[in-house]
Amino acid sequence: MQAVVVHGVGDPASIRVEEVADAVAEPGEVVVRLRAAALNHRDVYICRGQYAGLRYPTVLGADGAGTVAAAGAGVTHVRVGDAVIINPCLDWGDDQRVAAPTFRILGMPDNGTFAQLVTVPAANVLPMPAGLSIEEAAAIPLAGLTAYRALVSRGALQPGERVLIIGIGGGVATLALVLARGLGARVFVTSGGDAKLERAAGLGAERGFNYRTSDWVAAIRQATDGGPDLIIDGVGGATFEQALDVARPGGRLVSYGATTGNAPHLTVRRIFWKQLSVLGTTMGSSADFAAMLALFEGGHVRPVIDRAYPLAEAGAALARLERAEQFGKIVLRID
Ligand SMILES: NC(=O)c1ccc[n+]([C@@H]2O[C@H](COP(=O)([O-])OP(=O)(O)OC[C@H]3O[C@@H](n4cnc5c(N)ncnc54)[C@H](OP(=O)(O)O)[C@@H]3O)[C@@H](O)[C@H]2O)c1
Repeated sequence: MQAVVVHGVGDPASIRVEEVADAVAEPGEVVVRLRAAALNHRDVYICRGQYAGLRYPTVLGADGAGTVAAAGAGVTHVRVGDAVIINPCLDWGDDQRVAAPTFRILGMPDNGTFAQLVTVPAANVLPMPAGLSIEEAAAIPLAGLTAYRALVSRGALQPGERVLIIGIGGGVATLALVLARGLGARVFVTSGGDAKLERAAGLGAERGFNYRTSDWVAAIRQATDGGPDLIIDGVGGATFEQALDVARPGGRLVSYGATTGNAPHLTVRRIFWKQLSVLGTTMGSSADFAAMLALFEGGHVRPVIDRAYPLAEAGAALARLERAEQFGKIVLRID
């Protein structure tokens, strides 16, 4: 089969497709013939060597959708030919609060989805939601799960609440936007690009604020009548201090990432004086995944696709993600 394989630390743009042995299904496993996969920032971090537990060679990619190509002994809930979407959380375990110590994300150290075939535990394949294209289905799993758990399981979002999503160009951020709108929230966003703010407005964001060219903290406080109820943040250091500043007293901030690293300065007083709840989240349980997929069923809520590349152009796709040029999910088409 053809696959995008990481052999060591390098430039994501120079990654190539190569011929490797076909994936096979052991008892309790399924082989999925992938028709589309999607990129996440972790794929860039893995190429750059900035990720824990690196193992080489490994097929890159956490997100994918396709059809069941083979089912190992004991697999009963799917059959060869079924259209499926892959839950990239391996071994989350039974605790809804936190993943088990053996938890891993598909695509490092286990072989991932930037390939014609991938092997996954049978429990990690679910029927593809109706009403979505194959590219849209592939775009959902990792970012949709992260966004859903941030908004709902951790953020306890209520209809009508004001949500601020920081750095709307990111894959998780755009999924958080469509999910929050689907859940009846009022959504406000920040971005470094006015074109991205316009795209977000088209998806239902009430107001957008450019973090490069405006005093966005004051403007958001005014637009939200005292600050957002819930802030969803994956940017981290560059804007974390301002995020705590803009939060409404009694508000919640859910952190799922730190694209810009640690905060150089943090005013702890903002947290206790304003009675803030600062919550962390990573990926999600099988129950989170199923609840998230249900929101996409029927196609009323859809992920945003930035661009689709053929599998052979995975390097160019990763370079676009690393330059933060995307709005939404970058997808790979697999023949
Ligand atoms: N915890 C988890 O389970 C989990 C899951 C998925 C991702 N993550 C992490 O979450 C982060 C986001 O991932 P992603 O793939 O969705 O998006 P991403 O590609 O990392 O982009 C995030 C956005 O951050 C904004 N940004 C970049 N530099 C900035 C700066 N200096 N100041 C303010 N904003 C800036 C940009 O927004 P604009 O383009 O709008 O300007 C960019 O599009 C990553 O660090 C990733 O590793 C964590």
